[in-house]
Amino acid sequence: MNQVTDTMLNHVTHRIFDKNFEIDDRTIQTIIDCLKKAPTHINGQFYSVIVVRDLEKRKRLVELNPLNGHILKSSVFLLFIADFNRSRIIIESNDIHHDFGKNIDNLFVAGIDAGLAAMNAVNAIESLELGCVIVGGVRYHAKETIQLFNLPKFTYPLFGLSIGKPLDNPTKSPRLPKVLNVFEENYNTIPSDFFNDYDQLLIDSRVTQGSIWSESIFNYFEKDTLKTVTKENLEAQGLLS
Ligand SMILES: Cc1cc2nc3c(=O)[nH]c(=O)nc-3n(C[C@H](O)[C@H](O)[C@H](O)COP(=O)(O)O)c2cc1C
Repeated sequence: MNQVTDTMLNHVTHRIFDKNFEIDDRTIQTIIDCLKKAPTHINGQFYSVIVVRDLEKRKRLVELNPLNGHILKSSVFLLFIADFNRSRIIIESNDIHHDFGKNIDNLFVAGIDAGLAAMNAVNAIESLELGCVIVGGVRYHAKETIQLFNLPKFTYPLFGLSIGKPLDNPTKSPRLPKVLNVFEENYNTIPSDFFNDYDQLLIDSRVTQGSIWSESIFNYFEKDTLKTVTKENLEAQGLLS
């Protein structure tokens, strides 16, 4: 164990920030330098980050995502976007047109690149005794977010990251027991009632505040809210055809 592993093992998502805390530019640059060092597919760096300090923009993001009010009260908000716009420029400089939307693997590539970069940012932030919350909520209003930040074709807003001085003290969220998602050599059979114990564990640890984990998973897929929205917006951005 060392400071790095301690930081990772003590991870919690913070959602209440000191709105008067000003993060200095050096700290922001350190976080950005760390996230940019994350491994990336073929060194392609198929993502971009928009540093959002502007309060009007952040107010608009909260209007769109009322459940993510921390976007306004944090000290800075980073928007992570999938980005094949730079690739398009390289390809077109060879007088070739490429249909990015034909290869669905591109969505993995950009999502993984951006996710790894974000995780580097989270670890850097937490090691600096600041706190953060990843905001996947931006995808529910991807069209408006694309307009708000003038995102060009072949880019897509994936998630945001609110960063600030935390005022809350959240309980650490226990993860699934390893037997359910860490396997040796082959995928193992999962007992069909596995979730009862995990539901209870989360209730006992007071993480879910009365709601039941397996019900939240059920409801998420039952609603499937993003199914149509994401398909249409990816098509409009040239990332699905
Ligand atoms: C892709 C992704 C999207 C998320 N979106 C949101 C969000 O929109 N709002 C929010 O409050 N938390 C969001 N979270 C944070 C998760 O809710 C949180 O990580 C999870 O409940 C586990 O808690 P912990 O991070 O404290 O261990 C998101 C996390 C990830 C990885």
